[in-house]
Amino acid sequence: MTGSAVAEDALILGIETSCDETAVAVVRGGRRVLSNVIDSQARLHERFGGVVPEIAARAHDARLPQVIDQALREAGVKMAEVSAVAATRGPGLIGALIVGFSAGKAMASALGVPFSGVHHLEGHVLAVRLEDPATEPPYVALVVSGGHTALYSVQEEGVYQTLGSTLDDAAGEAFDKVARFLDLGYPGGPAIDRLAKRGDPQAVAFPRGLTGKGLDFSFSGVKTAVVRHVHRAQAAGEKVVKADIAASFQEAVVDVQVEKAMRALEMQGASTLVVGGGVAANTRLRARLAEEASRRGARLVIPDRKLCVDNGAMIAAAGFFRLSRGEVTPAEAPADPSLKLPSAVA
Ligand code: KG4
Ligand code: ZN
Repeated sequence: MTGSAVAEDALILGIETSCDETAVAVVRGGRRVLSNVIDSQARLHERFGGVVPEIAARAHDARLPQVIDQALREAGVKMAEVSAVAATRGPGLIGALIVGFSAGKAMASALGVPFSGVHHLEGHVLAVRLEDPATEPPYVALVVSGGHTALYSVQEEGVYQTLGSTLDDAAGEAFDKVARFLDLGYPGGPAIDRLAKRGDPQAVAFPRGLTGKGLDFSFSGVKTAVVRHVHRAQAAGEKVVKADIAASFQEAVVDVQVEKAMRALEMQGASTLVVGGGVAANTRLRARLAEEASRRGARLVIPDRKLCVDNGAMIAAAGFFRLSRGEVTPAEAPADPSLKLPSAVA
């Protein structure tokens, strides 16, 4: 390993375009967020009930220059002052990834500064450095997003041992599918989160997939159970209270995540739990994790909601981490929709 490619107080521009958020941030020293602009494409995809890859790529292309300008302006930083550029390299939608990754590489090359191609999930985990810079391994990380749901053991910063992952749908995907079924719009997570506040979480006992069995997740059963429940109630002429369904579904999904996260802490003998990804913005999940962690005397670090959903600040933080270890991504490296997380000491 070579020396650091960036100074301690480097100004990093972070670009995220792996899915449907065009997001750019400026972060100082890998820890201080100076700006964090998230331009959501949700409106463009809403009528399709999910992200349309071609539309996402074109919208990133159209919006990225303005989002970069806005992030620099809000940070009070001139383009020429940027010390390094980081952009999501993968995983994600290939057309969407290429837009931000290529723009990032081109900017770094024009400015003559180092470039880092970031793993999106490492970004979600290292967002923790923006929330609480004192967080250091060993810790267990729970990443819950629209595309991924997994638990990692992090014994050493930057090395991720997978403890468990979803066997079918990601947690966010389950939120989105159930919301679509209930006609609550896209993205479904925030809609269910809001509606659930008016519902009874005990109204329907939906299944808790794979609880009590290891650290893998399964969310397809609960999604099917919601559909069956609603169809049966409608056929029986019973009133379907969407708020109750939303609250009961959310409770089931949250229960599973909390149970698995606590089990992982126990199995690893770890005392710190780090949580990231869009679903970590969920009000009920945050409250339940806080409750359980405090009951067990474990330290819980969940970044602010704006740092949980896809954002450029987490990409800048992860880019800073890699660059500070001398890991510069070469100009010829391509975006990689199925990029793997580093899982062993290099
Ligand atoms: O991390 P993220 O922004 O993008 C991916 O990497 O996938 O996560 C997006 C997912 C979506 O499925 C969205 O519905 C979910 O996170 N989400 C939520 C909430 N906010 C976003 N799920 C539950 N409750 C929320 N408040
Ligand atoms: Zn994400």
